[in-house]
Amino acid sequence: MSTNRTFTMIKPDAVANGHIGSIINDITHAGFKIIALKYTKLSAEKAGEFYAIHKARPFYHDLVSFMSSGPIVAAILEKENAIEEFRKLIGATNPAEAAEGTIRQKYAKSIDANAIHGSDSDENAQIEGDFFFTADERF
Ligand code: CMP
Repeated sequence: MSTNRTFTMIKPDAVANGHIGSIINDITHAGFKIIALKYTKLSAEKAGEFYAIHKARPFYHDLVSFMSSGPIVAAILEKENAIEEFRKLIGATNPAEAAEGTIRQKYAKSIDANAIHGSDSDENAQIEGDFFFTADERF
């Protein structure tokens, strides 16, 4: 059953380029409620753990190095049909293919530095949210 929750990270490129405020604005204007929010930085070890599912992919090492290169913003968000609605809001993984008005089309530069992460399933949203937040950090 759907939990109506998703997990997101504003990635190091978008943070470094000053887009935290604009992206959170886009997210809340699209009707997502913030359940948990954290400004933090992943160590290479933690980034490797978070993206362990991609370990066999050729881009894994670059991904881990990029995701631990600077601070990020992690959040748990709530909206009806959250996974699908959020993936629509952020656009395609490759910003060159992201639809007009999506977060990646507006703020991302490349498939690696693609501004934002969104969970791809309810199960992963739960796992990813648990990676960053304890139960009493959710409101
Ligand atoms: P994200 O949704 O955070 O999860 C995995 C990330 O790997 C993805 O966003 C991209 O930023 C990055 N990535 C780099 N190259 C590729 C690729 N060829 N296919 C999919 N993801 C890629």
